[in-house]
Amino acid sequence: MVKTFAVIGDPIEHSLSPSIHNAAFKALNLDCTYIAYRIPRGELKEGIESLRQIKIAGFNVTIPHKIEMMQYLDDISPECKMIGATNTVSNDNGKFTGYNTDMDGFLEPIKKRNIGISGESVLVLGSGGAARAIVAGFAKEKAKKITISNRTLQKAQALSEFASSLGAEADYIKLQNVDVSKYKFVINATSVGLKNEPSPIPTGAINANHVVYDIIYMPMNTDLIQQSKKNSATIIYGYEMLLGQAALAFQIWHRVQAPYEAMKKVLLGGF
Ligand code: ATR
Repeated sequence: MVKTFAVIGDPIEHSLSPSIHNAAFKALNLDCTYIAYRIPRGELKEGIESLRQIKIAGFNVTIPHKIEMMQYLDDISPECKMIGATNTVSNDNGKFTGYNTDMDGFLEPIKKRNIGISGESVLVLGSGGAARAIVAGFAKEKAKKITISNRTLQKAQALSEFASSLGAEADYIKLQNVDVSKYKFVINATSVGLKNEPSPIPTGAINANHVVYDIIYMPMNTDLIQQSKKNSATIIYGYEMLLGQAALAFQIWHRVQAPYEAMKKVLLGGF
């Protein structure tokens, strides 16, 4: 019998996850399908009840449900518990287990380039759900110091307290006070750039020693990425995190290596 997977969220119509997973099914000849299912805020309980009815095999969770979904899980992986949000759920005969593949999906492109994190200073822009998984990742990899900057300063403070609770040295500053020369890693986890806005921070001091990672994948070349590229920084693209988290979710559900190249090909073709 064909197994059905889904991504739930709102908005969901532009999600690239169905293309990525369906390409993987095709590459490995799996009798599976993956759909986008819009569940508006406030309707999560009813939404997942209908997923149960159709015996969904597994699903991804995106904005705005990553945190609220936690209360509907029967079991929670250690990463998922640490981050306090889930993006991947498996269904084993009605038992929902929550995972979070955002953290390791984010780290994967850094590791693939053999860039060390231990002992390095990190600047994270943004304090939403994505920033939380990223901060947890840098704490896990023993970054020397994590600085968080955000438009709403209280949220940056709360996230820096979260980083401290994971054993990392952390602080927070206003966006206007950012001095990029203090950091090796500059991560954009805000939504600034989605609509082609200018970079959320000045880029003049970015140089070849920086690693600039923008988690926005559409557009692929945000202003921050373009300016950083001109200044010879090492660039990591948002689509790499998207693929990283998708490949890890795939491996949780199917227990085989994800066909990364097939997934990447369909994703880049979609841009
Ligand atoms: P996600 O789950 O993807 O992290 P989110 O929780 O909505 O999404 O977080 C969006 C982030 O982008 C927040 O850090 C937000 O800042 P606020 O906490 O002040 O809302 C940031 N952001 C969104 N629009 C912004 C803007 N115009 N300027 C600066 N930061 C912005």
